[in-house]
Amino acid sequence: MKSALVSIFSVCVSLTSLAHAAQPPESVFNRSCQMCHNGQLPMAPKKGDAEAWKPRLAQGKDVLVKHVTEGFNAMPARGLCMDCTAEDYAAVIDWMSKP
Ligand code: HEC
Repeated sequence: MKSALVSIFSVCVSLTSLAHAAQPPESVFNRSCQMCHNGQLPMAPKKGDAEAWKPRLAQGKDVLVKHVTEGFNAMPARGLCMDCTAEDYAAVIDWMSKP
């Protein structure tokens, strides 16, 4: 019974994340990430700075998404986007790491 409830719960969670997926990367960036990733913080890889993003991307997208979700050094957990899904993060990372 307990495990049935758990699986119903996880189906709900994944449906919810699907419903929230695909926020436009640019609006997520403008709302949450740009206050640090637009050159203000020297440690934060800047939007469009392919050189700065190269070693980050080399870690693999999963690691990057995990670091945003959990926080990483000076970056706060979730990158201050409270309603972002893993897919949203992956899309924003693609968007802001391109020149
Ligand atoms: C309060 C400032 C701040 C905000 C807001 C912020 N970041 Fe960051 N981010 C940082 C800093 C600082 C680093 C560099 C951390 C380090 O390497 O020590 C970083 C690093 C990263 C990295 C590289 C992580 C790695 O493993 O190398 C990714 C990816 C990233 N940010 C994505 C995002 C996304 C996506 C958002 C918006 C949803 C966001 N950040 C919002 C400050 C911020």
